[in-house]
Amino acid sequence: MSGLDTLVADTKATLSRVAQEFSPAVFASSLAAEDMVLTDLILKAQLPIGIFSLETGRLHKETLAMLDRVKEHYGYEIAVYRPQQDAVDGYIAQHGVNGFYDSIDLRKECCRIRKVEPLGRALAGKKAWVTGQRRAQSTTRSELAVQEEDAAHGMVKFNPLADWSEQDVWDYLRANGVPYNALHDQGYPSIGCEPCTRAIQPGEDVRAGRWWWENPDSKECGLHFVEGKLIRIKSVAA
Ligand code: ADX
Ligand code: SF4
Repeated sequence: MSGLDTLVADTKATLSRVAQEFSPAVFASSLAAEDMVLTDLILKAQLPIGIFSLETGRLHKETLAMLDRVKEHYGYEIAVYRPQQDAVDGYIAQHGVNGFYDSIDLRKECCRIRKVEPLGRALAGKKAWVTGQRRAQSTTRSELAVQEEDAAHGMVKFNPLADWSEQDVWDYLRANGVPYNALHDQGYPSIGCEPCTRAIQPGEDVRAGRWWWENPDSKECGLHFVEGKLIRIKSVAA
């Protein structure tokens, strides 16, 4: 088996285990490349793992278009969670629509309202959740495990692509004809909200375009970190 075949086999095994042993489980998709690998594997195997996306209200049109593209390609409708309007309105009234550029605290507060609170609703009542994080993506993810205890949400968290390289992701997407976000062809290896993501230059770190004005060690939005701390309190071997 090639290196990619082995990774795919391991990832399929992880996802099957999640479906069998951790039901109800859900997969959080940002609709970017990594998440399309997992979407393809989950939907082709018809695994009972619901897929949801956090629609922050600040996503690129290319990212939003992926919801329809997934529907056309797989006949599957991704569940969409949106922030609470009164919290968004309050933030904008107090700090302005782009207040997140003014300080790290205001950036984190915007992420809390637009991503973290809706994530809590998406995960309510679940036994496990799945993400598309990879170890090689950033300094903050260098110790990522395939299976972790997510103490903040009181459930198990799976990162089935922890061992995958960026090349593996693209080899899989191309070999399987998986639809992907058009921004990836325009210099965006990592995609978040439109005002907080920019294209990178050749040779730059893959997450250099995310919250590019901040230090690499603070560049997490609260989905995977809480109050500056990793929410993986205890790592469990896969
Ligand atoms: S982030 O924490 O910096 O935004 P990143 O964009 O690298 O994360 O994505 C890592 C994983 O977090 C994704 O593979 C996905 O599982 C989850 N994720 C990030 N953004 C979203 C989103 N808008 N909706 C659902 N899941 C998301
Ligand atoms: Fe707000 Fe930017 Fe966080 Fe999106 S990434 S929720 S716009 S601070």
